[in-house]
Amino acid sequence: MTTSHDHDDLESGPVTTVITLAREEPVATEIERRAIAWIAPYSQARHLVRARDWLLHLDRNATLEARLAVVTHDIERMFPGGPTMNKATDRWDDPHYLYAHASRSAEVVGVWLHSQHGASEDVSLSEVQRLITLHEFGGLDGADLVQAADSLSFLETLQDVVRRWVTGGECDVEKACAKHRYMAQRIRVPKARRLAEPLLERALASLEDLQG
Ligand SMILES: [Fe+2]
Repeated sequence: MTTSHDHDDLESGPVTTVITLAREEPVATEIERRAIAWIAPYSQARHLVRARDWLLHLDRNATLEARLAVVTHDIERMFPGGPTMNKATDRWDDPHYLYAHASRSAEVVGVWLHSQHGASEDVSLSEVQRLITLHEFGGLDGADLVQAADSLSFLETLQDVVRRWVTGGECDVEKACAKHRYMAQRIRVPKARRLAEPLLERALASLEDLQG
């Protein structure tokens, strides 16, 4: 297996599966610069930044609101007191947890955006919050793309986190595999579904040595 960036699908030797990765996208606006600085201390900041890269890979014309939504969509987890789920027993599509998580992120981002004087005047807060609240489910007018970008970034960047769920006893390896599959299968954008296939394969392979 090998990786390539953007549309540069290169193969070498006996490798048959090619993983296409989004390229790293420069930041052109002050509000995005501030958002990336704000999320930097979060343990999964890389996942958020890569979700922005994947969004732009899927849609070069993604709105500023969509870019801000993807780069902040999980940020409520940086602040204690949020919703929790039992990874061993709850469903991965559990709507009670997912909506509580997504809407809490939207609320946190709302407070933050309100305080960004001089950089947030052109941003529609309600649109950012709509997209964050829909990021686990998808929806109209860009929400499917935000959800797809989250899934692609999850499969690319969070393999180690998912491994630790197993090694730390939070869930068994079957449930961990099911999470990766869920993140791929929930994607509604056809192009993103195709991009997710090799990423899912690699994510599942990263759990193979933990199989009993
Ligand atoms: Fe996420």
